[in-house]
Amino acid sequence: KAADKGGYRHFMAKEIAEQSSVLADAVEYYLSSAEGRAAIETGLDFSQVDRLVMVACGTASLACHTAKYWFEQIAGIPVEVDIASEFRYREPPISDRTIALFVSQSGETADTLAALRYCVGKAGRIVSIVNVAESSIARESDVALPILAGPEIGVASTKAFTCQLVVLAALALQATRQRGARDDAALATLEGQLRQMPGYVADAMTCEDQIRDISKELAQFEDAIFLGRGAMYPLALEGALKLKEISYIHAEGCASGELKHGPIALIDSDMPVITLAPRDNRFDKIVSNMQEVMARGGKIVMISDAQGIEEAGEGTWHRVALPRVDSPFAPIAYAVPIQLLAYHTAVAKGTDVDQPRNLAKSVTVE
Ligand code: G6P
Repeated sequence: KAADKGGYRHFMAKEIAEQSSVLADAVEYYLSSAEGRAAIETGLDFSQVDRLVMVACGTASLACHTAKYWFEQIAGIPVEVDIASEFRYREPPISDRTIALFVSQSGETADTLAALRYCVGKAGRIVSIVNVAESSIARESDVALPILAGPEIGVASTKAFTCQLVVLAALALQATRQRGARDDAALATLEGQLRQMPGYVADAMTCEDQIRDISKELAQFEDAIFLGRGAMYPLALEGALKLKEISYIHAEGCASGELKHGPIALIDSDMPVITLAPRDNRFDKIVSNMQEVMARGGKIVMISDAQGIEEAGEGTWHRVALPRVDSPFAPIAYAVPIQLLAYHTAVAKGTDVDQPRNLAKSVTVE
């Protein structure tokens, strides 16, 4: 019904646009409210665990891959991330010093639920991060953390992804605190950065008109590559997933350091390369990867901030300037342009954005 779309043409557009507001709710709940703080403090002790295992499918698994950078670099916990369909049959050894974490928008994905059941009686704690609070995965967990995104109707996940990232970031900060991995001042800085993310997401929406124009051109191509480093690497995978899901353009996400080990063979003037290039401590490296692409005729869409574009934007096909986000949590803001790019490319191609062919919102069979 048109009314449910809140005046937007598609649910996906509405869900992208409401991210700033639902993220603010999630940040407020987990960082400020007594209920939310208790949810991640009670019954969850990261101080004695050896490792965290995170299991999910699809976009939710890419939220886990992003959070691995936070849990390892900030909290100092070894993390393993796996897709549920592999994990459940591999019979991985799980000890009671492992926290097993399952991320699922629907809470009903068959493979993720089976992976959770495999861990029952083995892992020290079963934790889930879900959007549907009364779902099977939530019910069968020791601790179920809601992402507070509200109903997500578009098959391609958007606001659930960024809300999952917020909950994972809050959990990583809690783990950091419990393990004494950072001093109070550093923790306060990180918490302040997480609180700023909904504002950055709102700012990132201002690039929509520009992305709509780029998407009209991108829609003419048959393939695309997304490049990222560090925590932007999983986001490159998510950018490729989103684009292929709804525009049917064949897309591949690549860790930019791996470019030279294979994907560079694909580069020619028919290959757009969307590059996630925040001005972090790996900026020089991603710029040199961009130059390798441009030297072979590849068309770079550079997503960075104004200063990054001034320093390294020359010769690129298109440039998108986001606000400067100086934080490990920057992937939350950088999710916006890749979602908008997929959305507007699909609209330009005239595909069924909310109900892409062959895909289901929730996969409850194997
Ligand atoms: C389906 C959906 C994806 C989603 C995945 C996992 O493939 O189309 O958008 O990421 O399932 O779903 P879940 O509900 O477990 O997050």
